Amino acid sequence: MTQPTDIRRVPAHRPRLLDLFCCAGGAAMGYQRAGFEVTGVDIADRPNYPFPVHRADALAHLAALTASGEIRQYAAVHASPPCQAGCALTVGTNRSRGWGREHVQLIPELRTLLDASGLPYVIEQPNGKAPVRPDLKLCGEMFGLGVLRHRVFELGGGWTVSQPAHRPHRGYVRGYRHGVYRDGPYVAAYGAGGGKATISEMQTAMGITWTDVREELTEAIPPAYTELIGRARLAAARAVAA
Ligand SMILES: C[S@@+](CC[C@H](N)C(=O)[O-])C[C@H]1O[C@@H](n2cnc3c(N)ncnc32)[C@H](O)[C@@H]1O
Repeated sequence: MTQPTDIRRVPAHRPRLLDLFCCAGGAAMGYQRAGFEVTGVDIADRPNYPFPVHRADALAHLAALTASGEIRQYAAVHASPPCQAGCALTVGTNRSRGWGREHVQLIPELRTLLDASGLPYVIEQPNGKAPVRPDLKLCGEMFGLGVLRHRVFELGGGWTVSQPAHRPHRGYVRGYRHGVYRDGPYVAAYGAGGGKATISEMQTAMGITWTDVREELTEAIPPAYTELIGRARLAAARAVAA
Protein backbone atom coordinates (compact mmCIF):
# COMPACT_ATOMS: atom_id res chain seq x y z
CA MET A 1 0.00 0.00 0.00
CA THR A 2 1.30 3.51 -0.75
CA GLN A 3 2.70 5.37 2.26
CA PRO A 4 1.69 8.94 2.98
CA THR A 5 4.57 11.04 1.68
CA ASP A 6 5.29 13.21 4.69
CA ILE A 7 5.35 10.94 7.71
CA ARG A 8 8.96 9.79 7.40
CA ARG A 9 10.20 13.40 7.44
CA VAL A 10 10.95 13.66 11.12
CA PRO A 11 13.37 16.30 12.40
CA ALA A 12 16.63 14.70 13.59
CA HIS A 13 16.45 16.29 17.03
CA ARG A 14 13.33 14.42 18.07
CA PRO A 15 13.79 11.93 20.92
CA ARG A 16 13.75 8.35 19.69
CA LEU A 17 11.28 5.68 20.75
CA LEU A 18 11.74 1.94 20.24
CA ASP A 19 8.41 0.29 19.35
CA LEU A 20 8.61 -3.44 20.15
CA PHE A 21 6.04 -5.86 18.63
CA CYS A 22 5.18 -3.01 16.30
CA CYS A 23 2.86 -4.69 13.73
CA ALA A 24 1.67 -2.00 11.27
CA GLY A 25 2.21 0.85 13.70
CA GLY A 26 -1.05 1.98 15.27
CA ALA A 27 0.88 2.75 18.46
CA ALA A 28 3.85 4.10 16.52
CA MET A 29 1.81 6.75 14.73
CA GLY A 30 0.57 8.23 18.01
CA TYR A 31 4.12 8.52 19.37
CA GLN A 32 5.27 10.13 16.13
CA ARG A 33 2.45 12.68 16.39
CA ALA A 34 3.42 13.37 20.00
CA GLY A 35 6.96 14.27 18.90
CA PHE A 36 9.05 11.08 18.87
CA GLU A 37 11.09 9.57 16.08
CA VAL A 38 9.94 5.95 16.07
CA THR A 39 11.72 2.72 15.11
CA GLY A 40 9.78 -0.55 15.04
CA VAL A 41 10.67 -4.20 15.71
CA ASP A 42 8.50 -7.13 14.67
CA ILE A 43 9.10 -10.81 14.12
CA ALA A 44 7.09 -10.67 10.89
CA ASP A 45 7.67 -8.55 7.80
CA ARG A 46 5.67 -5.36 8.23
CA PRO A 47 5.93 -3.43 4.95
CA ASN A 48 3.02 -1.20 5.93
CA TYR A 49 4.80 0.07 9.04
CA PRO A 50 5.24 3.78 8.27
CA PHE A 51 8.65 4.22 9.94
CA PRO A 52 11.99 2.36 9.90
CA VAL A 53 11.46 -1.22 11.08
CA HIS A 54 13.70 -4.20 11.96
CA ARG A 55 12.56 -7.76 11.53
CA ALA A 56 13.70 -9.46 14.74
CA ASP A 57 12.60 -11.15 17.91
CA ALA A 58 11.73 -8.22 20.17
CA LEU A 59 13.21 -9.70 23.33
CA ALA A 60 16.49 -10.69 21.68
CA HIS A 61 16.71 -7.29 19.98
CA LEU A 62 16.14 -5.40 23.23
CA ALA A 63 18.65 -7.58 25.10
CA ALA A 64 21.28 -6.99 22.41
CA LEU A 65 20.73 -3.22 22.37
CA THR A 66 21.05 -3.07 26.16
CA ALA A 67 24.17 -5.26 26.23
CA SER A 68 25.91 -3.13 23.60
CA GLY A 69 24.86 0.20 25.09
CA GLU A 70 23.09 1.15 21.85
CA ILE A 71 19.84 1.35 23.79
CA ARG A 72 21.01 4.79 24.95
CA GLN A 73 20.12 6.24 21.55
CA TYR A 74 16.48 5.82 22.63
CA ALA A 75 14.53 7.93 25.10
CA ALA A 76 11.71 5.44 25.72
CA VAL A 77 10.40 1.99 24.77
CA HIS A 78 6.86 0.88 23.95
CA ALA A 79 5.91 -2.81 23.85
CA SER A 80 2.68 -4.46 22.67
CA PRO A 81 3.45 -8.17 23.12
CA PRO A 82 0.96 -10.67 21.69
CA CYS A 83 -2.01 -10.81 23.98
CA GLN A 84 -3.62 -14.16 23.23
CA ALA A 85 -2.78 -15.62 26.65
CA GLY A 86 -4.63 -12.90 28.52
CA CYS A 87 -7.09 -11.31 26.15
CA ALA A 88 -10.67 -11.20 27.38
CA LEU A 89 -11.83 -12.04 23.86
CA THR A 90 -9.89 -15.32 23.75
CA VAL A 91 -9.35 -16.59 27.30
CA GLY A 92 -11.26 -19.84 27.67
CA THR A 93 -12.12 -20.02 23.98
CA ASN A 94 -8.83 -20.50 22.12
CA ARG A 95 -5.74 -22.58 22.50
CA SER A 96 -3.66 -19.40 22.40
CA ARG A 97 -1.89 -20.13 19.17
CA GLY A 98 -0.33 -17.21 17.40
CA TRP A 99 2.26 -16.44 14.76
CA GLY A 100 2.83 -20.12 13.99
CA ARG A 101 3.81 -21.40 17.41
CA GLU A 102 2.28 -22.17 20.75
CA HIS A 103 1.76 -18.93 22.61
CA VAL A 104 4.13 -18.26 25.48
CA GLN A 105 3.68 -15.53 28.03
CA LEU A 106 6.37 -13.01 27.14
CA ILE A 107 5.57 -10.30 29.65
CA PRO A 108 7.66 -11.34 32.70
CA GLU A 109 10.85 -11.68 30.62
CA LEU A 110 9.99 -8.55 28.67
CA ARG A 111 9.58 -6.54 31.88
CA THR A 112 12.94 -7.78 33.19
CA LEU A 113 14.63 -6.69 29.96
CA LEU A 114 12.85 -3.33 29.99
CA ASP A 115 13.93 -2.68 33.58
CA ALA A 116 17.50 -3.59 32.60
CA SER A 117 17.38 -1.09 29.72
CA GLY A 118 17.14 1.76 32.23
CA LEU A 119 14.61 3.56 30.01
CA PRO A 120 11.06 4.63 30.75
CA TYR A 121 8.68 2.19 29.13
CA VAL A 122 5.09 1.30 28.32
CA ILE A 123 3.64 -2.21 28.12
CA GLU A 124 0.23 -2.28 26.43
CA GLN A 125 -2.32 -5.07 26.70
CA PRO A 126 -6.04 -5.63 26.25
CA ASN A 127 -8.14 -5.15 29.33
CA GLY A 128 -8.22 -8.80 30.37
CA LYS A 129 -6.12 -11.07 32.49
CA ALA A 130 -2.70 -10.07 31.18
CA PRO A 131 -0.15 -9.64 33.95
CA VAL A 132 0.44 -5.92 33.60
CA ARG A 133 -0.03 -3.22 36.21
CA PRO A 134 -2.98 -1.07 35.07
CA ASP A 135 -1.33 2.33 35.52
CA LEU A 136 -3.53 3.76 32.76
CA LYS A 137 -6.74 2.50 31.15
CA LEU A 138 -7.95 3.90 27.85
CA CYS A 139 -11.17 3.47 25.88
CA GLY A 140 -12.01 4.72 22.39
CA GLU A 141 -14.93 6.76 23.69
CA MET A 142 -12.47 8.97 25.61
CA PHE A 143 -11.29 10.11 22.16
CA GLY A 144 -14.65 10.04 20.36
CA LEU A 145 -13.59 7.02 18.29
CA GLY A 146 -15.77 4.42 16.60
CA VAL A 147 -14.23 1.53 18.57
CA LEU A 148 -14.19 0.87 22.31
CA ARG A 149 -10.86 -1.03 22.32
CA HIS A 150 -10.28 -0.99 26.09
CA ARG A 151 -6.56 -1.20 26.78
CA VAL A 152 -4.36 -1.13 29.89
CA PHE A 153 -0.86 0.31 30.06
CA GLU A 154 1.91 -0.40 32.53
CA LEU A 155 4.27 2.56 32.84
CA GLY A 156 7.76 1.59 33.94
CA GLY A 157 10.57 3.81 35.12
CA GLY A 158 8.84 6.22 37.50
CA TRP A 159 6.45 8.43 35.58
CA THR A 160 2.70 8.78 35.20
CA VAL A 161 -0.01 9.74 32.73
CA SER A 162 -3.14 11.49 34.02
CA GLN A 163 -6.02 9.05 33.80
CA PRO A 164 -8.83 10.47 31.60
CA ALA A 165 -12.31 9.96 33.01
CA HIS A 166 -14.12 6.97 31.53
CA ARG A 167 -16.99 8.32 29.45
CA PRO A 168 -20.25 6.38 29.27
CA HIS A 169 -20.55 4.40 26.06
CA ARG A 170 -23.03 5.90 23.60
CA GLY A 171 -24.56 2.56 22.70
CA TYR A 172 -23.75 -0.97 21.56
CA VAL A 173 -20.92 -2.38 19.54
CA ARG A 174 -22.64 -3.26 16.25
CA GLY A 175 -23.09 -6.95 15.49
CA TYR A 176 -24.43 -10.28 16.68
CA ARG A 177 -24.07 -11.41 20.30
CA HIS A 178 -25.57 -14.75 21.24
CA GLY A 179 -27.66 -14.72 18.06
CA VAL A 180 -29.07 -11.23 18.61
CA TYR A 181 -28.11 -8.40 16.23
CA ARG A 182 -27.70 -4.95 17.68
CA ASP A 183 -26.85 -1.74 15.91
CA GLY A 184 -24.69 0.85 17.60
CA PRO A 185 -22.13 3.64 17.24
CA TYR A 186 -19.09 1.33 17.62
CA VAL A 187 -17.71 -1.37 15.34
CA ALA A 188 -16.05 -4.64 16.40
CA ALA A 189 -12.49 -4.37 15.09
CA TYR A 190 -11.66 -8.04 15.57
CA GLY A 191 -12.59 -11.22 13.75
CA ALA A 192 -14.86 -11.14 10.72
CA GLY A 193 -18.52 -11.71 9.90
CA GLY A 194 -21.47 -11.35 12.27
CA GLY A 195 -21.74 -7.62 11.67
CA LYS A 196 -18.09 -6.98 12.55
CA ALA A 197 -16.28 -4.09 10.92
CA THR A 198 -15.21 -4.02 7.30
CA ILE A 199 -11.65 -2.96 6.60
CA SER A 200 -12.65 0.59 5.73
CA GLU A 201 -14.84 0.80 8.84
CA MET A 202 -11.89 -0.28 11.00
CA GLN A 203 -9.64 2.30 9.34
CA THR A 204 -12.14 5.09 9.98
CA ALA A 205 -13.05 3.99 13.48
CA MET A 206 -9.44 3.87 14.72
CA GLY A 207 -7.88 6.58 12.54
CA ILE A 208 -5.50 4.16 10.79
CA THR A 209 -5.33 4.79 7.06
CA TRP A 210 -1.94 3.36 6.04
CA THR A 211 -2.74 -0.34 6.14
CA ASP A 212 -5.62 -2.28 4.64
CA VAL A 213 -4.51 -5.63 6.04
CA ARG A 214 -7.27 -7.00 8.27
CA GLU A 215 -4.90 -8.78 10.69
CA GLU A 216 -2.88 -5.58 11.15
CA LEU A 217 -5.99 -3.52 11.81
CA THR A 218 -7.40 -6.02 14.29
CA GLU A 219 -4.07 -6.01 16.19
CA ALA A 220 -3.65 -2.23 16.27
CA ILE A 221 -4.36 0.29 18.95
CA PRO A 222 -5.66 3.70 17.88
CA PRO A 223 -2.89 6.31 17.51
CA ALA A 224 -4.92 8.64 19.75
CA TYR A 225 -3.99 6.44 22.74
CA THR A 226 -0.25 6.68 22.27
CA GLU A 227 -0.36 10.34 21.27
CA LEU A 228 -1.74 11.01 24.77
CA ILE A 229 0.91 8.77 26.37
CA GLY A 230 3.73 10.16 24.24
CA ARG A 231 2.87 13.76 25.09
CA ALA A 232 2.83 12.87 28.79
CA ARG A 233 6.21 11.12 28.46
CA LEU A 234 7.76 14.16 26.78
CA ALA A 235 6.29 16.46 29.43
CA ALA A 236 7.76 14.23 32.17
CA ALA A 237 11.19 14.35 30.51
CA ARG A 238 10.99 18.16 30.20
CA ALA A 239 10.05 18.44 33.88
CA VAL A 240 13.12 16.40 34.89
CA ALA A 241 15.37 18.50 32.64
CA ALA A 242 14.06 21.84 33.97
C1 LIG B 1 -0.69 -6.81 19.22
S1 LIG B 1 0.36 -6.70 17.81
C2 LIG B 1 1.03 -5.07 18.03
C3 LIG B 1 0.11 -3.95 17.58
C4 LIG B 1 0.76 -2.58 17.49
N1 LIG B 1 1.19 -2.08 18.77
C5 LIG B 1 -0.17 -1.57 16.84
O1 LIG B 1 -0.71 -0.71 17.56
O2 LIG B 1 -0.37 -1.63 15.62
C6 LIG B 1 1.66 -7.80 18.23
C7 LIG B 1 2.77 -7.96 17.21
O3 LIG B 1 3.82 -8.70 17.82
C8 LIG B 1 4.49 -9.42 16.80
N2 LIG B 1 5.27 -10.46 17.48
C9 LIG B 1 4.87 -11.62 18.04
N3 LIG B 1 5.88 -12.23 18.65
C10 LIG B 1 6.97 -11.45 18.48
C11 LIG B 1 8.33 -11.52 18.90
N4 LIG B 1 8.77 -12.55 19.64
N5 LIG B 1 9.17 -10.51 18.56
C12 LIG B 1 8.73 -9.46 17.83
N6 LIG B 1 7.45 -9.33 17.40
C13 LIG B 1 6.59 -10.30 17.73
C14 LIG B 1 3.40 -9.90 15.88
O4 LIG B 1 3.90 -10.19 14.58
C15 LIG B 1 2.43 -8.70 15.91
O5 LIG B 1 2.68 -7.86 14.83
